[in-house]
Amino acid sequence: MIYTVGGIKGGTGKTTISVNLAVWLAKQGGDVLLVDADEQESATDFTSFREHTLNGETNYTAVKLTGDQLRSQVTKLSSKYDHIVIDSGGRDTISQRAALVISDVSLFPFRPRSFDFWTITKVQNLISEIRTVNPELRAMVFINQADIRSEDNRETAEQLKEIEGFEFIPDMVCNRKAFALAGGQGLAVFELSPQDAKASKEINALFKAIPQ
Ligand SMILES: Nc1ncnc2c1ncn2[C@@H]1O[C@H](COP(=O)(O)OP(=O)(O)O)[C@@H](O)[C@H]1O
Ligand SMILES: [Mg+2]
Repeated sequence: MIYTVGGIKGGTGKTTISVNLAVWLAKQGGDVLLVDADEQESATDFTSFREHTLNGETNYTAVKLTGDQLRSQVTKLSSKYDHIVIDSGGRDTISQRAALVISDVSLFPFRPRSFDFWTITKVQNLISEIRTVNPELRAMVFINQADIRSEDNRETAEQLKEIEGFEFIPDMVCNRKAFALAGGQGLAVFELSPQDAKASKEINALFKAIPQ
C-alpha cells in the first residue's frame, strides 16, 4: 500500500500522522518506507531524532524525495516495501501531485477550524484531477487536533461526512501534548513513556480504520 498524507494547509498534522503511521505499520510487522516529500523536511528531522533516541533502530527506512523524482523512485521502490508512507507539504505542489498519482490511499487531516475546512474545495478539485489518471485512489478525511471538549468537533465532523468522493473516518485524534512531546524525541505517541493512554488509543483507532 502507498499512502500519502496531504492537504493544502500547514499545521494540520500531516507530518505527525505520517511518522506515527510509519512506526505503527512497522510494528504490525511490515517493511516500511517513509518518504519525506516536503521541503520543510520535518519527517526527516523526526527520523534524525529517532536515530538518536533509539540508537539507529528506527524500524523503517526513510528517504527524501521531491518533484519529478518522487514518482519514478517510489514506483521503483514499491516492490521492496510492504507499506510506503509519503508525507507531503501543505501546498498543492508537483511533489504532492506526484505522490497522489502513485498512491492507493490519501489521508487528509483537518483541524476543527473554519480556515482549515475552507480548503476542502481545493482538496476536492485536486483529488478529482488526480483521479483522471489514478481512478482507484481512495481519499479519506478525519479530524486531528480535535478540541477535548467542543461543539466545533461535531460541526466539522458533520461537514466532513458530506464531502462527495471522500470517506470520513469518525475516529478523531484530540489535541494532546503527548504528540509534540513524542515527536520531539522521534517517537510515535504510543512509544512514549510515561504513556498518554488516550492519545495512544485514539491514534490506534484511526489507523485501524485505514485500509492495510
Ligand atoms: N493531535 C495533536 N495534538 C497536539 N499537537 C499536535 C497534534 N497533531 C499535530 N500536533 C502539533 O501541531 C504542530 C503541527 O503538526 P505537523 O504534524 O507538523 O503539521 P503539518 O505537517 O501538517 O504542517 C506540531 O507542533 C505538532 O506537534
Ligand atoms: Mg509537515
